[in-house]
Amino acid sequence: MATIGIFDSGCGGLSVYRELVKVLPQERYLFFADNAHCPYGEKTALYIQRRARYITEWLLDKGADIIVVACNTATAAAIATLRAEYPDVPFIGMEPAVKPAALGTKTGVIGVLATAGTLKGSKYLNTRGRFQDDVTIVEHVGQGFVELVENGILDGPEAQETVSASLQPLLDAGADRIVLGCTHYPFLQPLIERLCGPDVQVIDPAPAVARQTVRILGERGIPVGAGPFSVSLHASGDPAALQRIFKRINQQ
Ligand code: DGL
Repeated sequence: MATIGIFDSGCGGLSVYRELVKVLPQERYLFFADNAHCPYGEKTALYIQRRARYITEWLLDKGADIIVVACNTATAAAIATLRAEYPDVPFIGMEPAVKPAALGTKTGVIGVLATAGTLKGSKYLNTRGRFQDDVTIVEHVGQGFVELVENGILDGPEAQETVSASLQPLLDAGADRIVLGCTHYPFLQPLIERLCGPDVQVIDPAPAVARQTVRILGERGIPVGAGPFSVSLHASGDPAALQRIFKRINQQ
């Protein structure tokens, strides 16, 4: 049994946890939601690196064998630092799913929704650079999306208005693939898909990240699969949001 540490600025990382348990159902999970410092989206890289280091220490202290940075913004700001500072620890980061979007688009336009921190990070800019000659890539910050999810508002008039404001410019530009570049956004996916209509595909990178975790555990020779399954949730702030989303994914 492996101990898998996961962290995010809040409950968004549970969209990655939900995919991890599908492919690794017999492990011990430790989930840290840094919601006392959420959102990370507009914070400096230095601030996020400090938080990431603190959380990494916390997870390692509790026995994590591998750490999934289930946050695109923290991946952009801190994964390189974490890998340099903890060379023996395997870290899995989030990849914006630009490649499957670019390969699948029929209109030649793909839309990316993410935080400001992710969109200006070198990881995203490099990925963008690889595909921008082949497809048109339009981006928008999911303004207010993280706050909606943290408050458990996943549908209804307020969510619809907030989501439309950031999504519509991408649809107006002709995007037929929408990449969810923040781990909070998949909790709004049913609403996003409804607003997009049937001709647009919305892509959540979490299943690919879960598969990558399986691969890296194998490469590192960390034994998996014997159980027993367990999950422990920790929030640096109010645990209510985390518990609300956790309950929801367990009902799915
Ligand atoms: N869930 C995060 C991400 O994937 C962070 C959102 C935020 O805190 O701004 O980017």
